[in-house]
Amino acid sequence: METVVSGIRSTGNLHLGNYFGALKNFIKMQHENNCFFFIADYHSLTTHPTPGNLHGSVKQVLAEYLACGLDPEVATLFLQSDVPEVAELYLLLNMNAYIGELERTTSFKDKIRNQPDNVNAGLLTYPVLMAADIIIHNASKVPVGKDQEQNLEMARKFARRFNNMYKVKYFTEPQPYNFGEALIKIPGLDGTGKMGKSEGNGIYLFDEPKIIQKKVMRAVTDSGPTKKNQKMPDPIQNLFTLMNIVSENETSEFFKEKYNNCEIRYGDLKKQLAEDIINFTTPIRENILEILSNDDYLRKVAKMGAEKARASASKTVKEVREIIGFKPF
Ligand code: TRP
Repeated sequence: METVVSGIRSTGNLHLGNYFGALKNFIKMQHENNCFFFIADYHSLTTHPTPGNLHGSVKQVLAEYLACGLDPEVATLFLQSDVPEVAELYLLLNMNAYIGELERTTSFKDKIRNQPDNVNAGLLTYPVLMAADIIIHNASKVPVGKDQEQNLEMARKFARRFNNMYKVKYFTEPQPYNFGEALIKIPGLDGTGKMGKSEGNGIYLFDEPKIIQKKVMRAVTDSGPTKKNQKMPDPIQNLFTLMNIVSENETSEFFKEKYNNCEIRYGDLKKQLAEDIINFTTPIRENILEILSNDDYLRKVAKMGAEKARASASKTVKEVREIIGFKPF
């Protein structure tokens, strides 16, 4: 059984892209691996130093992951800030992390472009904290998207460097967890690319049915096919991709045939798609609401996760201190 670690951003609700991208795989993975999933609330301060409602957003994220099926009895589900041991490992790793390599990181360069008035040291050392998150549990696998590949590469570098500097074979170098075929890209409703928070084209699991309906009805289409069996342009293909995921097979077959015969009415297609998305999200949304109203349960989950994570983290920090040479008198 492999140990897997993944950090979850603490800002924003989950959209269908998150669900069918990472989350569905997390839910499956938790039964096959020793999983540590945490909400990266320390990290969020690198971009939001004075968050309006840190607790509220963390609570929402936790409730959403639970509602979708992450099982706190199976996986270790916790808040990063509940495991202060990670801050100590971060401090120790920072001593062997070099300004030059940190400054060259793509995500650092992107972020300082976005927030030129707040180029803080936490932003620079973001990959060091991320490495600490991972190697503190001696993870061998990390599920990451394209945008996190470089950070994971740096985690390997810091693990390797620690081993070399202190002449030990202590840390495992974490490898990317490859979902392979299972990773489907969910398109947005704006006719291009993928569903994303910053793109503003997402359908959220927590969206009310009326909102979902509005969003789907506004999705970009074209003036319709003019030739039989004509190749679908991206915006139309995107609607079918969504339909393939949330609707019955017969439903998408039905509309595909209409398209191929140039008989399609996009209004009907969208109406059906909205209905099927709503049928999919409604039980999840109700689950989220129920969990959000149960503070006792959330407290219990967070406590249980923190205890499991701290047991693993404090063992590592104790051994790392010994390796470096800290000793009690
Ligand atoms: N940087 C990741 C992101 O933005 C979140 C994260 C923090 C993470 N620590 C991690 C992911 C450790 C995997 C492992 O999505």
